[in-house]
Amino acid sequence: MTRTTFTPALWVTGLALILFAGTGSASDGEVTVPVPGPWGDDYSETLDDPATVDATEAFQRFRQQSMQGTSATYRSIEQILRYDAPFAERLPELADELARRADDIGTWFARETPARDGEPGALPAAWGDPEFAEYKVSYREAATELQRKVDAAEDLEDPAFQLRATEALNGVRHHCLACHDNFRRR
Ligand code: HEC
Repeated sequence: MTRTTFTPALWVTGLALILFAGTGSASDGEVTVPVPGPWGDDYSETLDDPATVDATEAFQRFRQQSMQGTSATYRSIEQILRYDAPFAERLPELADELARRADDIGTWFARETPARDGEPGALPAAWGDPEFAEYKVSYREAATELQRKVDAAEDLEDPAFQLRATEALNGVRHHCLACHDNFRRR
């Protein structure tokens, strides 16, 4: 009786077949979609099957992506103020963006979409505890305070200004941490 030995080459061929199958299903709950473009037709991406992601989950994922975006904005400002990344001239637009995101946070919680049992996500308290509203308001004020300090700066490179701005950034960070501590499960 002959047996097929799965050499690395066979594995790679098999993997390539699965990846480039176009509309083929990658594994349970996933689909592989073709992503053609100017660099060729060989690109594809494996994603969660949209048929398995309901509107509630999509809402929750949108919120998570928005939080990730907030984090990227926050961390970019941090690179400038704490680590001297040479992008001080970008501070006004980044501080505006952080404040705009803080303004927007209410919409990310407009629908009651808490984490499923034991999974990471928002705790039910985000919809049940009236204090949550205060966390949002106070967070917006902290982000606006940073924006004000940046707008008032005469010289964005000035160390004294950067120190004041770093204090305001810490004020924002306090709100990220406190809200997560009370309303988020990791
Ligand atoms: C008013 C409350 C609140 C504030 C303020 C807040 N967050 Fe969140 N954040 C949450 C909650 C609740 C979750 C969990 C959301 C979920 O998974 O549905 C979360 C999730 C996250 C996540 C994980 C997203 C993911 O992919 O699962 C990141 C990153 C994050 N926040 C960054 C920040 C940063 C950075 C700040 C401050 C600049 C901030 N958050 C301010 C409530 C808050």
